[in-house]
Amino acid sequence: MTQNKMKYSIALNVKNLHKSFGNKTVHRGVSFELRSGEILGLFGGSGTGKSVILRSIIGLEKPDRGEIIFDDRNIVGLNESQLIQVRTQIGYVFQNGALFDSLSVEENLAYPLKEHTTLNAREIKLRVNQMLDLIDMTGTNALFPNELSGGMQKRAGLARATILDPKIILFDEPTAGLDPVNTKRLLDNIKNLKKSGITGIFVTHDIPSAFEIADRIAILYQGAIYVIDSVENIKQSEDPLVKSFVSDSIH
Ligand SMILES: Nc1ncnc2c1ncn2[C@@H]1O[C@H](COP(=O)(O)OP(=O)(O)OP(=O)(O)O)[C@@H](O)[C@H]1O
Ligand SMILES: [Mg+2]
Repeated sequence: MTQNKMKYSIALNVKNLHKSFGNKTVHRGVSFELRSGEILGLFGGSGTGKSVILRSIIGLEKPDRGEIIFDDRNIVGLNESQLIQVRTQIGYVFQNGALFDSLSVEENLAYPLKEHTTLNAREIKLRVNQMLDLIDMTGTNALFPNELSGGMQKRAGLARATILDPKIILFDEPTAGLDPVNTKRLLDNIKNLKKSGITGIFVTHDIPSAFEIADRIAILYQGAIYVIDSVENIKQSEDPLVKSFVSDSIH
């Protein structure tokens, strides 16, 4: 066991998170490690606090107790300007793509580069076009979000979240609402990113997609991580709760 532990480095260490909203307790001690280079699938019933975990990791939500260690710092307790820096290194793919409606595809993708890099206009355009090629959206520069299909919006959201080469990407139900063709495209895009060494958390109710893309799976249940294990072990688990997740596609 100890030997295995030496084989990987930890990209993110979530330790004992507690969170309540009013008298509703959501997290009662959530702990897990995200290993460098892995994609961790995160399952859990609706309302169990998966999105709150992701939002806490980029400092949009403050846990009542616990730590989130990234780059030797505890994200919990950082101030806004420190968090802005963290957010350049942790990309967030929101459920709906979260593009700026009044900006074109090119302007949406260029936005993080203009805000956080010293690249000039020509370099920015080059990088945006590279990214559009990668997500099969070559030539869509001038289109506005309302002119894109749902699948394209999600892929553009993915592109914008990854254009600064973050160390970690957080995916919140990236395949929700997509048909099989668009789901496959998005998964292929993520697989390409994975080849370039991306680390990520993939929150989803889409179990088959998670099995395809993830290295390990964690299940959030009653405010804590019930199990975290390899995809193979999760698929073969005899635990009734794990089995219920694996056999159903919707929770
Ligand atoms: N800002 C907030 N104020 C009050 N309650 C909140 C807030 N954010 C989340 N909650 C509550 O916390 C619980 C967990 O929410 P969360 O969005 O993390 O669930 P989830 O696991 O992502 O669910 P889903 O799978 O449906 O997206 C829910 O009961 C939700 O109503
Ligand atoms: Mg959610």
